[in-house]
Amino acid sequence: MYMFLPYMTNDYSIGLYNENVDDIYHSAFGALNEAYEKFVSPAIENISLDKKNEINVLDICYGIGYNTKVLINEVRNKYPDLKIKIDCVDTDRTLMELSPFILSNVNLINRLIHKNKLLKNAKRYSETKKIVELKNKSQTNKISKSVNKILLKNLISSFGLEFLSKDSIKILQNRENDDFFYNSLLNFYKIFLKNRIYLQQNKNKSTFVHNIYYKYVSCRYKYFNDLSLKYTINFIVSDIRRYLIQTDRKYDLIFLDGFTPSKCPCIWSVDFFKELYNHLNNDGVLLTYNKSAPVRKAMIDNKFYIGNTVSDKNKLIGTIASKKISNIKNKLSDKDFGLLSTKAGIPYRDINLSLDNNIIKANREKEVAESLLLSSTQYIKGLKNEI
Ligand SMILES: C[S@@+](CC[C@H](N)C(=O)[O-])C[C@H]1O[C@@H](n2cnc3c(N)ncnc32)[C@H](O)[C@@H]1O
Repeated sequence: MYMFLPYMTNDYSIGLYNENVDDIYHSAFGALNEAYEKFVSPAIENISLDKKNEINVLDICYGIGYNTKVLINEVRNKYPDLKIKIDCVDTDRTLMELSPFILSNVNLINRLIHKNKLLKNAKRYSETKKIVELKNKSQTNKISKSVNKILLKNLISSFGLEFLSKDSIKILQNRENDDFFYNSLLNFYKIFLKNRIYLQQNKNKSTFVHNIYYKYVSCRYKYFNDLSLKYTINFIVSDIRRYLIQTDRKYDLIFLDGFTPSKCPCIWSVDFFKELYNHLNNDGVLLTYNKSAPVRKAMIDNKFYIGNTVSDKNKLIGTIASKKISNIKNKLSDKDFGLLSTKAGIPYRDINLSLDNNIIKANREKEVAESLLLSSTQYIKGLKNEI
């Protein structure tokens, strides 16, 4: 049975937990804020979007799509003429299908306030203040609902009549999950399903997706047609390694947002970064939240220039990689580079891009154990002695 385990993160956006991998999909500090800080803001800072008419993006490990949603949202507000084509890849089709239904933080907090009569009717100062605080917190970053409509339209285009697998339907039908989904979209899915069965029986499939979509979704949104022409999203259910081997598409922007290397090393190996290098345009950038030594070494071994991404408060939050050194604003220190040449920097290996995660992990552990390189502790001690 598919386990859909949502929880509320610190910015009141919804995060998920994966029981099989025993890892969270999103930072408990805030799923939405993470997408802004670690992916979309550094992307906008480092690609000159004002000089482009169109960009091609690869969203690796799409999940429930925060990075894609926030990117469209930001570009829509700041670069209204820019067209974007996004290829979203994930092995989990159910999450992709659920992604447009997930409430944004603003709607979630309004719903919570509405549901909780004590908060709603609060007269006392402290409780009123609490509501204002909650609202302010949730308003800092938000996703417009029409972004979800764009996703929905593109999901129907990508999956056609197969849109909404049995697992997705079960999750959408489970009343316990209602708090996490848009009511209006839950209504849409019910109408969609009803008509889908009817039309399947009548073999009148060709106009179905078009009609149901325009009847129930897009006509309510004034600028929707125009918007959906600007943003094309391709949903690809695949192991990203298989996808990259068989495509020759190149990208201006790559988001790499997988589970941590110790849980999912197949997307952090030196061989995988070779594929990423080959699929990145010359002035493109790759962004990830990961800043660990084996990942950065794997990038450098593939001739990427790399740097730190930093938050508004100057906190180190991830890594940017590019083929062009001029795209790297915050360079690594000599100490950071030195660490990459210790045992800590030994990368994961997956030469044919086909190994199981457990094998990749065990192979690296063996390589580290047998290595004659300095450990990171010895390296840091050595630096202190030099001073
Ligand atoms: C940390 S979550 C991604 C969160 C996501 N970016 C979001 O905004 O919701 C990691 C995702 O990686 C996917 N995944 C794991 N291994 C993969 C692989 N080899 N290829 C593609 N996707 C993979 C999982 O299904 C999961 O959805």
